[in-house]
Amino acid sequence: MKVHEQLEIQSFDQSQITTKLKFYQEEHRRLTVLFNITRNISTELKIDKLLLILMDEVKKALKADRCTVFLLNRDKLELWSKVAHGEREIRFPSHLGIAGYVATTGDVLNIPDAYADPRFNREIDKKTGYHTKNMLTFPMRNKLGDIIGVFQVLNKYEGSFTHDDEQLLDAISVISATQIENAQLYEEQKTTFDSFIETLASTIDARDPLTAGHSHRIALYADAIAEVMNMSPRKRDVLRYAALLHDYGKIAIREAVLTKNGRLTVEEYAHIQEHPAYTKSILERINFHGDYRSIPVIAGAHHEKIDGTGYPEGMKGEEIPLESRILAVADVFDALTSVRHYRDRMDFERVLSILDRDAGTHFDTDCVNAFKKLKLDVLIKILEYDVHQLLDPKELKQVANYNVRQLLQARASEEKNGEEKIIADIFEKYYNKKYSH
Ligand SMILES: [Fe+2]
Ligand SMILES: [Fe+2]
Repeated sequence: MKVHEQLEIQSFDQSQITTKLKFYQEEHRRLTVLFNITRNISTELKIDKLLLILMDEVKKALKADRCTVFLLNRDKLELWSKVAHGEREIRFPSHLGIAGYVATTGDVLNIPDAYADPRFNREIDKKTGYHTKNMLTFPMRNKLGDIIGVFQVLNKYEGSFTHDDEQLLDAISVISATQIENAQLYEEQKTTFDSFIETLASTIDARDPLTAGHSHRIALYADAIAEVMNMSPRKRDVLRYAALLHDYGKIAIREAVLTKNGRLTVEEYAHIQEHPAYTKSILERINFHGDYRSIPVIAGAHHEKIDGTGYPEGMKGEEIPLESRILAVADVFDALTSVRHYRDRMDFERVLSILDRDAGTHFDTDCVNAFKKLKLDVLIKILEYDVHQLLDPKELKQVANYNVRQLLQARASEEKNGEEKIIADIFEKYYNKKYSH
């Protein structure tokens, strides 16, 4: 073989190898993309977050400037999405625009020059100030082949969208559709569960008009205290349900005893004290799963006291779940600050002195201290929960940087400075309902 022939073969091999290498590199990149997307979305069950992750990943995977994922709501015949990195939501009828066309027909639309295509609506660019050059709009299908949404990817950095891009998006579509449907199912069930628990709480509050709204308020106080104590979101979720249901056992208490105005007899008092045990035994019959399994115990222990003199079990100190110790503070604070018939709220200093006096005997001192760190806007919103639409947002903002402890100092100060006077006045106005409603 002559030298020049050998060279030709060598160079041919070289270019073949380069092509192959490029192919494998690209293949590797695609697999990495799919792997990353799968990993990043597989644990996310919040639709909003899921959409944001997907938009970000698809944008990177297709080397494009923007991606929007629209979901199809078949009941309302709407396409909707979260605007990437913003809180705003967009919704429009599911037959409109290019996304609507793709959602309706299931066709893939790869438009290399948006402004040369009559289907493109220039008005959107005009409104947003964005300039769309090219776009790939792709249906998202579930395993059954039903369209559940649409991907719209805009402005590829180099050239226009290719057939390979379409194939990659097809694979992403299958993975994401499954997770989105899981998340939708989870959210639906959670909404049903939430409304069910809220309804149970309302039925209990409705039995005794003197404690109207008590279950909802104690849930809010308990959650606010838990937040100050840095409790994890999962535990706070459990605590919220336990709070909503803590007095559910009152369903088993005789109406005449529950709503009696005068002094209770010894027997009647003992009967009322049975309610947390009823709460526990009733809730134990609900088939709670995972973390929620602790709800009956937490709810049933809200009248236990740190020194062991509480009921029904007389648990002591840390035998009482932390969540129940939080409930105890929230429960008593709400009872003392509820507006009963023709009665004003108990003097705020007196309420706080009761919490202080009983910290270490009835209450867990850490929980009382956490309560005193509640911000005043949060506190006022819960105190006046039933008329929250009448609160002045400007005033709430003014007191948002102050907590209960600072409020007490301001109220006690003989010569209040400007700020002390403002927060003391705003609190006084709402606490003692010196405003029209
Ligand atoms: Fe109770
Ligand atoms: Fe209660």
